[in-house]
Amino acid sequence: MKKRKGRKPKFTAKTADKYDLYQRSVQSADDDIKFLDRVYQSTRGHRANHFREDFCGTALLTATWVKRGPEYTGEGFDIDPKPLAWGRNHNFEPIDEAAARALLHQKDVREPSRTAPDLRCAQNFSYCVFKQRSELMEYFRAAYEDLADNGLFVIDLQGGTESMEETEEETKVAGGFTYIWDQHEYWPVTAETKCYIHFRFRDGSEIRRAFTYNWRLWGLAELQDALYEAGFAQVDCYWEGTASDGTSGNGIFRKTRRGENCASFIAYLAAFK
Ligand SMILES: C[S@@+](CC[C@H](N)C(=O)[O-])C[C@H]1O[C@@H](n2cnc3c(N)ncnc32)[C@H](O)[C@@H]1O
Repeated sequence: MKKRKGRKPKFTAKTADKYDLYQRSVQSADDDIKFLDRVYQSTRGHRANHFREDFCGTALLTATWVKRGPEYTGEGFDIDPKPLAWGRNHNFEPIDEAAARALLHQKDVREPSRTAPDLRCAQNFSYCVFKQRSELMEYFRAAYEDLADNGLFVIDLQGGTESMEETEEETKVAGGFTYIWDQHEYWPVTAETKCYIHFRFRDGSEIRRAFTYNWRLWGLAELQDALYEAGFAQVDCYWEGTASDGTSGNGIFRKTRRGENCASFIAYLAAFK
Protein backbone atom coordinates (compact mmCIF):
# COMPACT_ATOMS: atom_id res chain seq x y z
CA MET A 1 0.00 0.00 0.00
CA LYS A 2 1.20 3.48 -0.79
CA LYS A 3 1.91 5.56 2.25
CA ARG A 4 -0.26 8.71 2.36
CA LYS A 5 1.85 11.83 2.52
CA GLY A 6 1.13 13.91 5.64
CA ARG A 7 -0.95 16.90 4.59
CA LYS A 8 0.48 20.31 5.35
CA PRO A 9 -1.69 22.27 7.78
CA LYS A 10 -3.81 24.82 5.91
CA PHE A 11 -3.11 27.58 8.41
CA THR A 12 0.19 28.50 10.06
CA ALA A 13 1.38 31.77 11.54
CA LYS A 14 3.47 32.32 8.40
CA THR A 15 0.78 31.64 5.82
CA ALA A 16 -2.45 32.76 7.51
CA ASP A 17 -4.14 36.09 6.94
CA LYS A 18 -5.41 37.68 10.15
CA TYR A 19 -8.58 39.12 8.57
CA ASP A 20 -9.48 35.74 7.12
CA LEU A 21 -8.92 34.11 10.52
CA TYR A 22 -11.02 36.81 12.19
CA GLN A 23 -13.94 36.32 9.85
CA ARG A 24 -13.82 32.52 10.30
CA SER A 25 -13.60 32.79 14.10
CA VAL A 26 -15.89 35.63 15.02
CA GLN A 27 -18.40 36.33 12.29
CA SER A 28 -21.56 34.53 11.15
CA ALA A 29 -22.79 36.99 8.57
CA ASP A 30 -25.71 34.93 7.24
CA ASP A 31 -27.10 34.35 10.75
CA ASP A 32 -26.61 38.01 11.68
CA ILE A 33 -28.43 39.24 8.59
CA LYS A 34 -31.24 36.74 9.16
CA PHE A 35 -31.65 38.02 12.72
CA LEU A 36 -31.56 41.71 11.75
CA ASP A 37 -34.03 41.08 8.94
CA ARG A 38 -36.41 39.22 11.26
CA VAL A 39 -36.40 41.98 13.89
CA TYR A 40 -36.97 44.69 11.29
CA GLN A 41 -39.68 42.79 9.41
CA SER A 42 -41.57 41.66 12.51
CA THR A 43 -42.05 45.22 13.72
CA ARG A 44 -42.24 47.12 10.45
CA GLY A 45 -44.18 44.57 8.38
CA HIS A 46 -41.85 44.84 5.37
CA ARG A 47 -38.20 44.33 4.59
CA ALA A 48 -35.45 46.87 5.04
CA ASN A 49 -33.59 47.88 1.87
CA HIS A 50 -30.80 50.23 2.81
CA PHE A 51 -28.35 48.88 5.38
CA ARG A 52 -25.49 50.52 7.26
CA GLU A 53 -22.73 48.61 9.05
CA ASP A 54 -20.79 50.65 11.60
CA PHE A 55 -17.22 49.64 12.61
CA CYS A 56 -17.49 47.47 9.52
CA GLY A 57 -13.84 46.33 9.31
CA THR A 58 -13.85 44.05 6.26
CA ALA A 59 -17.57 44.83 5.73
CA LEU A 60 -18.58 41.19 5.51
CA LEU A 61 -22.12 41.97 6.63
CA THR A 62 -22.56 44.68 4.02
CA ALA A 63 -21.33 42.30 1.29
CA THR A 64 -23.74 39.62 2.54
CA TRP A 65 -26.58 42.15 2.57
CA VAL A 66 -26.13 43.53 -0.97
CA LYS A 67 -25.58 40.17 -2.65
CA ARG A 68 -29.15 39.10 -1.75
CA GLY A 69 -30.63 41.04 -4.67
CA PRO A 70 -30.89 44.33 -6.59
CA GLU A 71 -33.22 45.95 -4.02
CA TYR A 72 -30.54 45.71 -1.31
CA THR A 73 -28.02 48.51 -0.89
CA GLY A 74 -25.53 49.20 1.87
CA GLU A 75 -22.88 51.42 3.41
CA GLY A 76 -20.01 50.48 5.69
CA PHE A 77 -18.03 52.82 7.97
CA ASP A 78 -14.59 52.20 9.47
CA ILE A 79 -11.65 54.49 10.24
CA ASP A 80 -8.98 51.91 9.38
CA PRO A 81 -8.07 51.66 5.67
CA LYS A 82 -6.47 48.18 6.05
CA PRO A 83 -9.55 46.04 6.78
CA LEU A 84 -11.54 48.14 4.29
CA ALA A 85 -9.01 47.36 1.53
CA TRP A 86 -8.98 43.67 2.51
CA GLY A 87 -12.79 43.62 2.39
CA ARG A 88 -12.86 45.22 -1.05
CA ASN A 89 -10.55 42.50 -2.39
CA HIS A 90 -11.95 39.47 -0.59
CA ASN A 91 -15.63 40.21 0.16
CA PHE A 92 -16.70 42.54 -2.66
CA GLU A 93 -14.64 41.52 -5.70
CA PRO A 94 -16.10 37.98 -5.67
CA ILE A 95 -19.71 39.25 -5.67
CA ASP A 96 -19.28 41.06 -9.01
CA GLU A 97 -22.01 43.55 -9.89
CA ALA A 98 -23.63 43.34 -6.42
CA ALA A 99 -20.56 45.14 -5.07
CA ALA A 100 -21.67 48.29 -6.90
CA ARG A 101 -24.63 48.51 -4.50
CA ALA A 102 -22.28 49.02 -1.54
CA LEU A 103 -20.33 52.07 -0.49
CA LEU A 104 -17.44 51.80 1.96
CA HIS A 105 -16.41 54.94 3.83
CA GLN A 106 -13.13 55.40 5.62
CA LYS A 107 -14.81 57.59 8.21
CA ASP A 108 -15.78 57.81 11.85
CA VAL A 109 -19.11 56.12 12.67
CA ARG A 110 -20.51 59.46 13.84
CA GLU A 111 -20.41 60.73 10.24
CA PRO A 112 -23.68 60.75 8.25
CA SER A 113 -24.64 58.19 5.61
CA ARG A 114 -24.98 58.92 1.89
CA THR A 115 -28.57 57.58 2.12
CA ALA A 116 -30.56 57.32 5.34
CA PRO A 117 -30.46 53.64 6.39
CA ASP A 118 -33.56 51.58 7.19
CA LEU A 119 -31.40 49.28 9.25
CA ARG A 120 -28.12 50.13 10.92
CA CYS A 121 -25.97 47.96 13.15
CA ALA A 122 -22.78 47.89 15.23
CA GLN A 123 -21.57 44.33 15.76
CA ASN A 124 -19.07 42.69 18.04
CA PHE A 125 -19.30 45.30 20.79
CA SER A 126 -17.31 47.79 18.74
CA TYR A 127 -19.03 50.91 20.18
CA CYS A 128 -17.20 50.03 23.47
CA VAL A 129 -14.34 52.03 21.94
CA PHE A 130 -16.30 55.05 23.20
CA LYS A 131 -15.23 55.11 26.83
CA GLN A 132 -16.82 58.40 27.81
CA ARG A 133 -20.59 58.65 28.04
CA SER A 134 -20.48 61.92 26.10
CA GLU A 135 -18.81 60.10 23.15
CA LEU A 136 -21.29 57.23 23.30
CA MET A 137 -24.19 59.71 23.36
CA GLU A 138 -22.72 61.57 20.39
CA TYR A 139 -22.65 58.27 18.48
CA PHE A 140 -26.17 57.18 19.48
CA ARG A 141 -27.60 60.65 18.70
CA ALA A 142 -25.88 60.65 15.30
CA ALA A 143 -27.29 57.16 14.60
CA TYR A 144 -30.79 58.31 15.57
CA GLU A 145 -30.68 61.47 13.46
CA ASP A 146 -29.28 59.63 10.45
CA LEU A 147 -31.81 56.76 10.36
CA ALA A 148 -34.66 56.72 7.86
CA ASP A 149 -38.17 57.23 9.28
CA ASN A 150 -39.19 54.00 11.00
CA GLY A 151 -35.55 52.92 10.93
CA LEU A 152 -33.97 50.41 13.27
CA PHE A 153 -30.57 50.58 14.99
CA VAL A 154 -29.17 47.37 16.48
CA ILE A 155 -26.14 46.83 18.73
CA ASP A 156 -24.89 43.65 20.33
CA LEU A 157 -23.37 43.42 23.78
CA GLN A 158 -21.67 41.01 26.14
CA GLY A 159 -22.25 40.81 29.87
CA GLY A 160 -22.34 38.71 33.01
CA THR A 161 -19.69 38.33 35.69
CA GLU A 162 -17.37 36.38 33.35
CA SER A 163 -17.06 39.38 31.05
CA MET A 164 -15.19 41.13 33.88
CA GLU A 165 -12.78 38.27 34.53
CA GLU A 166 -9.17 38.36 33.37
CA THR A 167 -9.18 35.10 31.48
CA GLU A 168 -8.50 33.42 28.12
CA GLU A 169 -11.06 31.39 26.20
CA GLU A 170 -9.95 28.99 23.45
CA THR A 171 -12.19 27.87 20.58
CA LYS A 172 -11.22 25.38 17.90
CA VAL A 173 -12.22 26.68 14.48
CA ALA A 174 -13.06 24.59 11.40
CA GLY A 175 -10.05 24.56 9.09
CA GLY A 176 -7.64 23.70 11.86
CA PHE A 177 -6.68 26.57 14.14
CA THR A 178 -7.54 27.89 17.59
CA TYR A 179 -9.07 31.27 18.25
CA ILE A 180 -8.12 32.73 21.63
CA TRP A 181 -10.13 35.53 23.25
CA ASP A 182 -7.91 37.08 25.90
CA GLN A 183 -9.67 39.32 28.44
CA HIS A 184 -6.38 40.70 29.62
CA GLU A 185 -7.36 43.51 31.96
CA TYR A 186 -10.52 44.76 33.62
CA TRP A 187 -10.64 47.81 35.87
CA PRO A 188 -13.79 47.95 38.02
CA VAL A 189 -13.80 51.68 38.75
CA THR A 190 -13.82 52.73 35.09
CA ALA A 191 -15.13 49.47 33.53
CA GLU A 192 -12.19 49.74 31.12
CA THR A 193 -11.03 46.49 29.63
CA LYS A 194 -8.16 45.48 27.36
CA CYS A 195 -8.71 42.41 25.20
CA TYR A 196 -6.65 40.62 22.57
CA ILE A 197 -7.32 38.05 19.90
CA HIS A 198 -4.56 35.46 19.38
CA PHE A 199 -4.49 32.55 16.93
CA ARG A 200 -2.71 29.21 17.42
CA PHE A 201 -2.02 26.72 14.65
CA ARG A 202 -1.59 22.96 14.39
CA ASP A 203 2.15 23.29 13.74
CA GLY A 204 2.50 25.02 17.12
CA SER A 205 3.01 28.50 15.65
CA GLU A 206 0.96 31.45 16.92
CA ILE A 207 -0.06 34.94 15.98
CA ARG A 208 -0.14 36.78 19.30
CA ARG A 209 -2.16 39.97 19.64
CA ALA A 210 -3.49 39.86 16.10
CA PHE A 211 -6.15 42.31 17.29
CA THR A 212 -6.19 44.59 20.36
CA TYR A 213 -9.25 46.23 21.90
CA ASN A 214 -9.19 49.03 24.45
CA TRP A 215 -12.79 49.22 25.51
CA ARG A 216 -15.22 50.21 28.20
CA LEU A 217 -17.56 47.41 29.14
CA TRP A 218 -20.94 49.12 28.97
CA GLY A 219 -23.80 47.56 30.95
CA LEU A 220 -27.06 46.54 29.33
CA ALA A 221 -29.24 48.85 31.41
CA GLU A 222 -26.99 51.87 30.88
CA LEU A 223 -26.96 51.24 27.11
CA GLN A 224 -30.77 51.12 27.08
CA ASP A 225 -30.95 54.39 29.01
CA ALA A 226 -28.49 55.99 26.61
CA LEU A 227 -30.47 54.87 23.55
CA TYR A 228 -33.72 56.30 24.96
CA GLU A 229 -31.89 59.52 25.85
CA ALA A 230 -30.63 59.74 22.26
CA GLY A 231 -34.26 59.84 21.11
CA PHE A 232 -35.20 56.26 20.22
CA ALA A 233 -38.90 55.55 20.77
CA GLN A 234 -38.57 51.91 21.76
CA VAL A 235 -35.63 49.72 22.77
CA ASP A 236 -36.10 45.93 22.85
CA CYS A 237 -33.67 43.43 24.28
CA TYR A 238 -33.10 40.10 22.52
CA TRP A 239 -31.57 37.38 24.69
CA GLU A 240 -29.78 34.26 23.51
CA GLY A 241 -31.25 30.84 24.40
CA THR A 242 -29.20 28.04 25.97
CA ALA A 243 -27.85 25.07 24.00
CA SER A 244 -28.91 21.55 25.01
CA ASP A 245 -25.58 20.99 26.81
CA GLY A 246 -26.67 23.77 29.18
CA THR A 247 -23.30 25.51 29.07
CA SER A 248 -23.35 27.70 25.96
CA GLY A 249 -25.64 29.88 23.88
CA ASN A 250 -27.69 28.36 21.05
CA GLY A 251 -27.58 31.31 18.65
CA ILE A 252 -31.37 31.87 18.91
CA PHE A 253 -32.32 35.30 20.20
CA ARG A 254 -35.77 36.11 21.62
CA LYS A 255 -37.24 39.29 23.00
CA THR A 256 -37.02 39.47 26.78
CA ARG A 257 -37.95 41.96 29.49
CA ARG A 258 -35.70 40.68 32.26
CA GLY A 259 -33.10 38.30 30.79
CA GLU A 260 -31.49 35.54 32.80
CA ASN A 261 -28.88 35.83 35.53
CA CYS A 262 -26.05 33.93 33.82
CA ALA A 263 -22.30 34.25 34.22
CA SER A 264 -21.82 35.11 30.56
CA PHE A 265 -24.30 36.30 27.98
CA ILE A 266 -24.61 37.89 24.56
CA ALA A 267 -27.64 40.06 23.80
CA TYR A 268 -28.88 42.55 21.23
CA LEU A 269 -30.54 45.90 21.77
CA ALA A 270 -32.90 46.86 18.97
CA ALA A 271 -33.66 50.60 19.02
CA PHE A 272 -36.58 51.89 16.92
CA LYS A 273 -36.87 55.46 15.69
C1 LIG B 1 -14.12 44.73 16.59
S1 LIG B 1 -13.76 45.36 14.96
C2 LIG B 1 -15.31 45.03 14.23
C3 LIG B 1 -15.22 44.28 12.91
C4 LIG B 1 -16.55 43.78 12.38
N1 LIG B 1 -17.49 44.83 12.19
C5 LIG B 1 -17.19 42.74 13.27
O1 LIG B 1 -18.37 42.83 13.55
O2 LIG B 1 -16.54 41.79 13.68
C6 LIG B 1 -13.80 47.09 15.30
C7 LIG B 1 -13.56 48.01 14.11
O3 LIG B 1 -13.96 49.33 14.50
C8 LIG B 1 -13.13 50.27 13.84
N2 LIG B 1 -13.27 51.56 14.56
C9 LIG B 1 -12.82 51.88 15.81
N3 LIG B 1 -13.22 53.12 16.13
C10 LIG B 1 -13.94 53.61 15.09
C11 LIG B 1 -14.65 54.82 14.84
N4 LIG B 1 -14.70 55.80 15.76
N5 LIG B 1 -15.28 54.97 13.66
C12 LIG B 1 -15.24 53.99 12.73
N6 LIG B 1 -14.61 52.79 12.92
C13 LIG B 1 -13.97 52.61 14.07
C14 LIG B 1 -11.75 49.63 13.86
O4 LIG B 1 -10.94 50.15 12.84
C15 LIG B 1 -12.12 48.13 13.65
O5 LIG B 1 -12.04 47.79 12.29
